[in-house]
Amino acid sequence: MKYYHKLIENNAAWAKEMVEQDAEFFAKREAKQTPHYLVIGCSDSRVPLELMTGALPGEMFVHRNIGNQVWETDLNVLSVVQFAVHVLDVEHVIVCGHSNCGALKAASGPSSNGLIDHWLADIRNVIRWHKNDLEACQDADTRLHKLSHLNVRQQVGVLSRMPIILDAWSRGKRPMLHGWVYDIGSGLIERVVEQVDSVEKAAILLPTN
Ligand code: CO
Repeated sequence: MKYYHKLIENNAAWAKEMVEQDAEFFAKREAKQTPHYLVIGCSDSRVPLELMTGALPGEMFVHRNIGNQVWETDLNVLSVVQFAVHVLDVEHVIVCGHSNCGALKAASGPSSNGLIDHWLADIRNVIRWHKNDLEACQDADTRLHKLSHLNVRQQVGVLSRMPIILDAWSRGKRPMLHGWVYDIGSGLIERVVEQVDSVEKAAILLPTN
């Protein structure tokens, strides 16, 4: 119970501190949200999206799942993207992977993890498509780092071919797509894909082998 109570205590202290700094901090966010970003991140507890980017409440619309994946058949992520793009009109959609990702490690091994193996199927495809590149890596750490980049590129690529995004671009609208890999060991973001805001720019994201 002690860990649970800590959260509630922290929350009360945080709310008090925010109001001390700005008496209207919460009141001015109550009526609506106008976030600039949609971030699709991994569920990993070591990747605190708002904390690591200094984003305040109201700035970041967030979707998280295991392996920061974007599936065109996932009603959950589709709904999030549609709402963020068509209703909230976010300027940027960012897929954020991270170092030492358990999903990528599991997808690299045999299919013996139960239900989650279904969810890792797309990452296994990425591994298959880039078999040569990955096998050329000198050690397991380098391979995992490479795979984190490839997975982020794949997921941004799926976004770039999604009708929701294509429709927005065809009407001359945002968003701009980006891919990051967050390094848990240093706390720093590595920028993998940047500023994709057209079909032409998205061509670099197509699988090459
Ligand atoms: Co992860």
